[in-house]
Amino acid sequence: MRAFVLPLAGANTVELAEVPKPLIDADELLVQVKAVGVGIHDSYFLPQDASYPFPIGIEAAGIVAEIGADTTGVHPGDRIAFVSSMQPKGGTWAEFVAVKANSLIIPLPAAVDWVHAAAIPVAGNTVLRALHALAGIPSGGSLFIAGGSGAIGTLGIQLARQHNWRVGASASAANHSYLRSLGAEMVVDYHSPDWVQQVRQWMPDGVDGALAVQPGTAAQTLGVVKNGGQLVPISGDNPVPERGIEVVGIPYQSDVRAEVLQLMADVAGEKIHVELEQVHPFGDALAALAKVQTRRARGKTVLELP
Ligand SMILES: NC(=O)c1ccc[n+]([C@@H]2O[C@H](COP(=O)([O-])OP(=O)(O)OC[C@H]3O[C@@H](n4cnc5c(N)ncnc54)[C@H](OP(=O)(O)O)[C@@H]3O)[C@@H](O)[C@H]2O)c1
Repeated sequence: MRAFVLPLAGANTVELAEVPKPLIDADELLVQVKAVGVGIHDSYFLPQDASYPFPIGIEAAGIVAEIGADTTGVHPGDRIAFVSSMQPKGGTWAEFVAVKANSLIIPLPAAVDWVHAAAIPVAGNTVLRALHALAGIPSGGSLFIAGGSGAIGTLGIQLARQHNWRVGASASAANHSYLRSLGAEMVVDYHSPDWVQQVRQWMPDGVDGALAVQPGTAAQTLGVVKNGGQLVPISGDNPVPERGIEVVGIPYQSDVRAEVLQLMADVAGEKIHVELEQVHPFGDALAALAKVQTRRARGKTVLELP
């Protein structure tokens, strides 16, 4: 099969290669990949015991081709989206991938096509977990998203509106009307030196909670949060808390499976819009990765396979 691989341990180049289809164990399924969600860490997020050449990638949508003897709940022919990360046999930038049956597997409603399905698993899972950490914000409360125009932010704005939270978000000016169309009540340009003060004009006591999506944004984002509020740094920043603000890590132990399924149902029902920066043919995967690594992609970047 064709796959984009790291050829050797320690290699810093990803290349298109012809590699064997993975063989599945009893607790795995083999998936024929139809579309891949591209993430900034795809080229270096890999397990210690990776076997080489190692196909990269951690999320995709596709058709179940085979199931292992101990696998229940999925059948050959099922359409699914999934997260499959840190698996020594390799990841999703491939025509076929072995997926552990206990991975996050999302059955696909007929109305969701491959490319939109592949855009959801990692961003959806991440933002739903982050919102779990902010579950104490009441209806009518407020959320600020530093990084509103990317894959996580565009879903986050819409999910926050489902909680009936008032939403502010940052992005470049070119994306402001778009963020408003998703439900943001106020938008600021993070290039403006006084964007924190602009958020404070909107919410003088500060917002109840904030998500800092991009690395390096959490310390400044603390400034928009009310005394005793909450901040979730999604990229792992570790700002020094101030004014009683609680800095909360993403609760990885939270079970958001049901919410991810609901999110997919809402995409099918056109209640949630999935923004795609661009859909690239599989052969253009490296250009897609380069775009995502600029951190300027609007929504999600996806690879499509025949
Ligand atoms: N912890 C986890 O489980 C987890 C999982 C997935 C991702 N992540 C992290 O989340 C980040 C990626 O999120 P994503 O996929 O939503 O990002 P993304 O798609 O790369 O976001 C791109 C957007 O970020 C905006 N942006 C760039 N710099 C910004 C800044 N300084 N302030 C505010 N916005 C800025 C850009 O906006 P404009 O173009 O409008 O300027 C662009 O639209 C990565 O750093 C990754 O490490 C964490």
